[in-house]
Amino acid sequence: MIVTRAPGKLYVAGEYAVVEPGEPAVLIAVDRYLTVRLSESTGSGRIRSGEYGSAALEWTRAADGVSMLLEHQSADYVFSALQVVESLRDERGIPARYFDLDISSELDDAQGRKFGLGSSAAVTVAVIEALDQFYGLGLDSIERFKVALLATIRISPNASGGDLAASTFGGWVLYTAPDRAALRRELEAGSVSEALAADAWDLHSVTRLPDPVGLELLVGWTGSPASTNRLVDSVRGNGREATTAHELFLQESRQNVDALVTALQGEDADGVLTRIRTARRLLQQLGESSGIRLETPALTALCDAAEAHGAAGKPSGAGGGDCGIVLVPETVERRQILSAWETHDIRLLDLSVHPPQGAL
Ligand code: PMV
Repeated sequence: MIVTRAPGKLYVAGEYAVVEPGEPAVLIAVDRYLTVRLSESTGSGRIRSGEYGSAALEWTRAADGVSMLLEHQSADYVFSALQVVESLRDERGIPARYFDLDISSELDDAQGRKFGLGSSAAVTVAVIEALDQFYGLGLDSIERFKVALLATIRISPNASGGDLAASTFGGWVLYTAPDRAALRRELEAGSVSEALAADAWDLHSVTRLPDPVGLELLVGWTGSPASTNRLVDSVRGNGREATTAHELFLQESRQNVDALVTALQGEDADGVLTRIRTARRLLQQLGESSGIRLETPALTALCDAAEAHGAAGKPSGAGGGDCGIVLVPETVERRQILSAWETHDIRLLDLSVHPPQGAL
């Protein structure tokens, strides 16, 4: 049996801006994992996951590729990862085999509610790593990340892939996305191998950043799920109409991320806190200018509690629910923030940064 696992992620700064190719964001991987167990099978394959309920989804091969025997929407990311790797295997002349996938996740609670820690990205990364080992494709971590992004944009065309980068490389990362519209065209017109070598990757980069010095990470969960795809589509749609406001947002976000990177590299804890607070303000302004509430009342309470006690907090990712991320100076009592969270039913997620992994 092959066992792989991929960590969840949080956005520290630059969300929404990072959807535009070449615009930077900072993310971290966290020590909550999604695990994939792959075992060889015959005749057909099965996929089991808490998300699909008790039934295993069956897949098989036909002349025109891999297909699911049972339609299920939640299988999208798993199935897309499977299809892209199967194409790559075919292109490399490696014989096809069948396998079962068993997926278990720490990225949702006991009732199956997602924390917003990037479960779609983690499942994509873990499935691709399992298949890479199974077929002996010999992909390095950068290639696995690229395959994961190709699989993801078939399902979510606007996804930046920042979550895939955090999940693949661990630690703190600075990320910029490639031109996914061009990558999709490459995928439609040609092979996965060609899409992996396309010029459309030029704007993409992943760089490691140091952990902040003198700051502790606190993550609060609001208990309400957010729909990233819907929020990104709405903000982008409105952003196009109000081009000047969106251009300004992109420029300010870029400046803020650059300053955050400088603060992290200079071990400047105050500078990091300032940039987290600015990232929150930028998201608030983006919400106002696009008429979409990104900061829910629970997220406001979560971040305000941090700011009231000398820490800095912001929503992680698309907003609209999910998690907020707080950095607390060593001199500040985290207890005060946690008791404010309790009164608003915000749950502390007990997690830390997952260490860097894989070569960049
Ligand atoms: O809501 P999350 O944690 O999946 O983050 C979404 C971040 C966006 O920048 C809004 C979208 C993206 O694909 O990067």
